[in-house]
Formats: sequence, structure tokens, C-alpha cells
Amino acid sequence: MTEEITLESMTGVGPVTTRKLNDAGIHNIMDLVVRGPVEIAELTSMDIETAGKLVEKARKGLVDGGLIQKDFVSANELYKKRQTIGKITTATESLDTLFGGGVETQALTEVYGEFGCGKTQFCHTMCVQVQKSKQEGGLEGGVLYIDTENTFRPERIVSIAQANGMDPEKALDNIIVARAYNSSHQILILEEASTLIREHNIKLVVADSAVGLFRSEYLGRGTLATRQQKLNKFVHLLVRLAETYNVAAIMTNQVMHSPDQFFGDPTRPVGGNVVAHTSTYRIYFKKSGKKRIARMVDSPHHPEMDVVFALGEAGVIDLEDATKKKKTSKKSEPKEEVIETPDVSIEPLDSEPKEEVIETPDVSIEPLDSEPKEEVIETPDVSTEPLDSESNDLK
Ligand SMILES: Nc1ncnc2c1ncn2[C@@H]1O[C@H](COP(=O)(O)OP(=O)(O)OP(=O)(O)O)[C@@H](O)[C@H]1O
Ligand SMILES: [Mg+2]
Repeated sequence: MTEEITLESMTGVGPVTTRKLNDAGIHNIMDLVVRGPVEIAELTSMDIETAGKLVEKARKGLVDGGLIQKDFVSANELYKKRQTIGKITTATESLDTLFGGGVETQALTEVYGEFGCGKTQFCHTMCVQVQKSKQEGGLEGGVLYIDTENTFRPERIVSIAQANGMDPEKALDNIIVARAYNSSHQILILEEASTLIREHNIKLVVADSAVGLFRSEYLGRGTLATRQQKLNKFVHLLVRLAETYNVAAIMTNQVMHSPDQFFGDPTRPVGGNVVAHTSTYRIYFKKSGKKRIARMVDSPHHPEMDVVFALGEAGVIDLEDATKKKKTSKKSEPKEEVIETPDVSIEPLDSEPKEEVIETPDVSIEPLDSEPKEEVIETPDVSTEPLDSESNDLK
């Protein structure tokens, strides 16, 4: 396969350069394209022009082999290519509707929301879903799970697999967990991911959470530029991996409170422009009592809509299933869980749930009487970092 064209066979790449590239996790021409000229130049001490030519040659090789897209393609070709995009169903009718069938390969799907809204539960569910056969809505593939908060729980995989009638042992075997200890390590994991992706038939890469380590390590206004630069590198690598290897990428993100926002929901995802512009799809999860609301916030082709789901032993579940379990035999519950939030498109999310406040135990620590919604600020660094620096960046 063209993908396996060796580095040495390319003019200008000698044994020393090959070793340097290999050491950095670059083993074939696909890797060269994923990493790009700037990085190749840095790694090999080539000048940027030579690196640029090398990457361009690798890219042409892949285009000729039909492995990546040409520079100019007809809309028809693009349409055909989009038909090859894989979708991982979410195990819930409501989220499948939101996603238009499921989480797509060749794209970065960002899920953001306050603590406890179900981001990690969603990731766990998708780890099992991706392993299902294509007929059952999976991609028959494995998972690379980058865990930055130490919240990956194999026990949850076991219960979700059991709830789906799957062998829990096998389900666990197909998930490679990479615990990232700091932001540089988090980037390094992705840099070395291409071999793993190929060898283990990975079809889903999860980064939970993507931004947390960067935020906690780079505090204060002075470090914002460096932080954004590094974060940029991480999210772009993630997108390039997803596109090049036809895998789905999911990353979770935290939220912050923007008191300067007068209209609508004052919670926003962190990460600024870098994250906002790189994610293909952005989904906002919101607590509403026991229910969870998901909203498609940003998508090139999905309509903006809200759906309702719940969390349970089986991971993310339809609200209907949650209520069914509670009221063992009573079947009078509504069926159209999807449409549940018709209330004006302007900003239904924030207006709705008042009860969620009761749900959060740690609110009581907050001494201030100023709006209880402040609980949303879950990261300590917000106080050191003036909000406006980040919100400006967001715009
Ligand atoms: N076995 C389970 N059965 C039912 N619900 C569960 C189970 N495990 C966790 N949950 C629900 O999931 C919630 C936690 O969700 P999750 O860990 O996905 O939040 P998160 O959005 O990742 O939060 P954070 O920002 O803190 O990482 C719990 O509050 C609980 O409601
Ligand atoms: Mg989490």
C-alpha cells in the first residue's frame, strides 16, 4: 500500500533523518503529511523549504494512491467521499437524531458542558458503540482513550457492554487508555498515535478532557499565547488524525461563566478561538434535574436543535428508557423525547432548568449569595485569569 512507502525511499531522507523521524513517531509518508512541514523541519533540522517539499511529495504520493483527497475536487466527488464517512450510533434515539445518525469519522466532535452533565459517560458509551458491527450501528473498531482527568472507569465499560449484550472482556481489550499527565504528554500521545491507530484498527479517538491540562498549567494572562499555541497543536493533530485515518474524534471541554453576556446562556466552552474553529461539531450538554439536554451548537450541516436524554447503567440512554425503569409497569410516558424543547429557538437552554441547582452538592461551599449559577465555574484558574482575556479570544 502507498501508505507503507518507506521514508528512506524518498529523496532527501537519509538514515539519520529517518531515525530522527522515527524517534518522533513518524514512520511513513502518511505520518509526514499529518505532522506537516513546520514540525518536520523542527525535528530534523531541515530548513522549512526542504521539509515543505518533502511533505508535498508525500502528499502527492497519497493522492495518487487514492488515500487522501486531491486539492481540487468536484462537488460530486466530495459528495461521494462523504458517503464513505462512517457513523457511530450513540445508543439513544434522541442523540442519534441530534447527530444525524451518529458521531462521524473524519471529523472532530466536541462535547462541552458543566461538571456532571454526562460528557465522560457519553465518551464511555461511544467506546462500546464503536465496537459493534456495522449492522448494529458501530464501526467494528477499537478506541484510543486519552484520559487527562483520571476519570476513565473500566467498570463503566463492563456495565455498558453488558447492557448491550456484549462480552465485557472483549470490550475492554479493544480500548487503549493513555493517561496524560501533563499537556506536553497529551500532545506526545497524539504524535505517536498513528501507529496505534493502524495496528489496533482504532476507529475512535477520545480526549477527555482536551483543554483541562492546558488551562491548569498555563495560568495568567502572560501565558495565554503559549497555551493557545499548544492547544492549537493538540486539536489540529486530532483533526488531522481523524481525517487522514478515517476515524472519529471526540473531545470534551469544560465551560466557564461569562458575566458579560447579557443575553442567552452565559456559559461558554473554554479554549477560545482555537477550539471553536477547529471542532467540526460542537454539542452542549446541560443538566436539567435528572434529565440531560443536548444541543447542536455549531455544525456545517445540522440544524440547531435540542434533544433530551438521560444517564444510566447503560451509559447515555433515552429518557423514555430511564422513566420506564423507574415506573416499572406504568407505560403512560411520552414517546417523543426528541421534540421536548420547542420553546423558542432563541435560548431555551438557560431558561429551563431551575431545579438543577438543588442537584449539585458543592454549591453549598460557595459562600456568596450572588447567583447560584456561578457553580458552573468549575476550574480554579478562572479567577486568576481575567475572563475577558479569554472571552476576547473567543470572539
Ligand atoms: N452507573 C451509573 N448509573 C447512572 N448514572 C450514572 C452512573 N455513573 C455516573 N452516572 C451519572 O453521570 C454523572 C456524571 O457524569 P460525567 O462523569 O459524565 O460528567 P462530566 O460531564 O464528565 O463531568 P466533569 O466535567 O466533572 O468531568 C453523575 O452525576 C451521574 O448522574
Ligand atoms: Mg468528565
